Amino acid sequence: MSSSSSTNNNFNNNERTTTIEISPNVFMPRLAFGTYKLKGAQCTKAVKKALEIGFEHIDTASIYKNESDIGEALEEWMTTTKTATNDDDDDGNDEKKTKKNFERKMPFLASKIAPAEMHSKLLVEQAVAKILIRLRIPAIDLIMLHWPGVSKVSPASEIHKEKRKDAYRALEKCLKEGKIRAIGVSNYHVRHLEELLSYCEIKPSVNQIEAHPMWPQEDLIEFCESRGIAVVKYSPFGGGGAPLLDDAFVSTREEEKEGGGGGGDEERELAADIADDQAWKPSQILLAWGLLRGGRKNRGNSKTLCGAVVVKASSEERILENYEVLEKDFFNSKYLSRKLKVWDSVETRKKFAWDSDCVK
Ligand SMILES: NC(=O)c1ccc[n+]([C@@H]2O[C@H](COP(=O)([O-])OP(=O)(O)OC[C@H]3O[C@@H](n4cnc5c(N)ncnc54)[C@H](OP(=O)(O)O)[C@@H]3O)[C@@H](O)[C@H]2O)c1
Repeated sequence: MSSSSSTNNNFNNNERTTTIEISPNVFMPRLAFGTYKLKGAQCTKAVKKALEIGFEHIDTASIYKNESDIGEALEEWMTTTKTATNDDDDDGNDEKKTKKNFERKMPFLASKIAPAEMHSKLLVEQAVAKILIRLRIPAIDLIMLHWPGVSKVSPASEIHKEKRKDAYRALEKCLKEGKIRAIGVSNYHVRHLEELLSYCEIKPSVNQIEAHPMWPQEDLIEFCESRGIAVVKYSPFGGGGAPLLDDAFVSTREEEKEGGGGGGDEERELAADIADDQAWKPSQILLAWGLLRGGRKNRGNSKTLCGAVVVKASSEERILENYEVLEKDFFNSKYLSRKLKVWDSVETRKKFAWDSDCVK
């Protein structure tokens, strides 16, 4: 099993590439474990598994109704000492066995205020307090406004502007009181952000949005980057049931190889190329897309990272497969760069989550 302690992979060996400083001294890990639709014991188990495997960023929301289950997982995670014997060194000498205790590290935690909790400043403050109680923590790394509008009001209503302004002001207050380390928004379009930037006292650290090769949102991401707002991309597989993984767009393998077939160096190069291709699972290419692609200027560039990605899975096998993207050599893989180039040129567009563009 992979573990956060492994240091010889291609991505994790540089702390600065695995995290983004979203606010002074608040470092957000770029690969997050999503928890939408996980509930009860299944949620607690999956979160504990994700932490064991190495995820250092857990994403939830008040509306997911699973923060208490996550709180349970966190408490168990923090109170169970990770103990390893020098069996792990595999030196075969039983007599020399000693126990080493490793300190558990609290993961980066992110949650969101639901539209129903955004109707007044007081409701937002109460919602923040409840999130902390459910997660069993004194303060949280990041809280976002989940959507740019409130519940039970037509998207076309002007009321949303005033409500989201008050809700954001309440988050600013909670941040100043030390209950939240960074604040942000989710599902905000450029005009929602421009409006927010015109009055906020504390700039949003994050905008969490749907983004994948079929919904790249390059203009929005470029706007966020230009304003120093980190983008967290959700639904990298298109959401529940992972429809993008079944789409020919993603699953077709690129057969073309540059060069090869001529013997000697070329044959070796071709063999290395094939091994490179086979090392990538479609799920991992989608996650790599999320870590590498951003605004238009990132097109064709496989060396610059952009934002973070949040992915959800229930089984140990899938959680591990997703985490292992951090161990891939995606800065140098020819297969990955060919695949991303093909995706850059495709114009098919598909959005899976509800579009908040209609919210006034
Ligand atoms: N801010 C927002 O409005 C918003 C909206 C949507 C999502 N999010 C956040 O983003 C997270 C991720 O998005 P998402 O849950 O919508 O969808 P997603 O991560 O794109 O896909 C989840 C689906 O993919 C499956 N899956 C996961 N790993 C797989 C693998 N390696 N191979 C095959 N299938 C795999 C999962 O199956 P199993 O679970 O059955 O294993 C699940 O059905 C959410 O959980 C949530 O935290 C935020």
